[in-house]
Amino acid sequence: MLATRLPLFPLTTELAATPAGPTLTIGGCDLAALAQQFGTPLYLYDQATMDAAATSYREALARHYPSETGVTFAGKALMLTAAAQWVQRQGFLLDCTGAGELHIAATADLASHQILVHGVNKSDEDLAAAVAQAGVIVVDNPTELARLAQIATQGRTLPELWLRVRPGVAVETHAYRQTGQHDSKFGFSTEEAISAVAMAQAQGLPVTGFHFHQGSQFFDPTPIGPGIDTVLELVQTLYQQHGWLPTTISPGGGWGVAYHEDELPQPAVDEYIAFIAKRMIEGCHQRGLPLPRLQVEPGRSLVARAGVALYRVGAIKETPSRRWLLIDGGMADNPRPALYGARYSALPVTDPDRAILGPAWLAGPYCESGDVLIEDLPLPEIAAGELLAVPASGAYHINMGSNYNGARKPAVVWLRDGVAHLVQRRETVSDLTRRDLPLPFGA
Ligand SMILES: Cc1ncc(COP(=O)(O)O)c(C=O)c1O
Repeated sequence: MLATRLPLFPLTTELAATPAGPTLTIGGCDLAALAQQFGTPLYLYDQATMDAAATSYREALARHYPSETGVTFAGKALMLTAAAQWVQRQGFLLDCTGAGELHIAATADLASHQILVHGVNKSDEDLAAAVAQAGVIVVDNPTELARLAQIATQGRTLPELWLRVRPGVAVETHAYRQTGQHDSKFGFSTEEAISAVAMAQAQGLPVTGFHFHQGSQFFDPTPIGPGIDTVLELVQTLYQQHGWLPTTISPGGGWGVAYHEDELPQPAVDEYIAFIAKRMIEGCHQRGLPLPRLQVEPGRSLVARAGVALYRVGAIKETPSRRWLLIDGGMADNPRPALYGARYSALPVTDPDRAILGPAWLAGPYCESGDVLIEDLPLPEIAAGELLAVPASGAYHINMGSNYNGARKPAVVWLRDGVAHLVQRRETVSDLTRRDLPLPFGA
């Protein structure tokens, strides 16, 4: 069990001998000791694993694409000050959705050339913050472009604008994670994009690129091919009709990660980038177009594997056909299984290589039958009070979490070179009422 599940965990995960028995360590830190120090549920991030993922993107781009390249971290996957600081140190752009995430980017001191803003229906506040803070705004629709044109007439200098287009093809993934199809709520149609570039040229708006994102958590890059072709067709038309060329094309992100041992081996970033780069090079060559800057936008494949969630088992329950392990977290810190049936795996923190007893169902404490984090996972006998470590927990957990049933958002701890840094404290009960105001009259 240990050998099969270990490749889901951060690269630095090891087993260390302790008085309590062999115990998992990450980044040189003992997980049982971390649970003791910071409480559970607890989110851990191994910086070495994030650094390695970043390097794999950088190296693959350099290996396969002979022109300018860049990486944008899709901040929606993990947004907190420490993560934004990490992005800055990697020299990546940080994708922020709206004024809220822009505030986090500002707290981390990111300069405008490191910030890109996404959003399907940006509010006035979002657009104003984006214009003030970002180096790039990815424009979602013609209405938004018109609003930006209006802002420009008020004397504001706009950042670079990239148009998000719907290529009409989605990747193979859960329907809730598909975005590239014709009927998607995201982006311009190709016809709208042609008019938008013409309008931008007429009004002197700095439209300099195209972006598309066809969906997330895919293992087969093939559908990105027609996506690239559609966008290059669009570029060819615009070049012929308006003499306009984009400086940047961004085929989004979405490359998958293994969440469960059935999905191993870990998908290779190099294979994904090689596919995109080849299609871009061939597509540009066939159409006589110069190679634009290639800007990829991964989220989960940079951070999911680096993150581990630690839970403590409270009660254990046997029902007619299930062994339930009731843990102290669940859909409030990780809504993905309830949202789209995401599958996970787990290991006991102490003595993780014990013989398997049989399947177990890991459920959280919240008042929803759908609050089941893991179904039908072979596990050893587990005692109440034991710790379980859930790998691949680094993306779309803590920022998608809620305060359902008064849940307090977990602490987040950053692990590096044997040192554990608290980067986000656990919420307290008083955080739950911090925004509340009493009724102005007695009950
Ligand atoms: C526009 C855009 N770019 C990039 C991503 C990143 O996807 P992933 O985290 O799967 O790489 C998303 C995810 O929703 C997205 O919507």
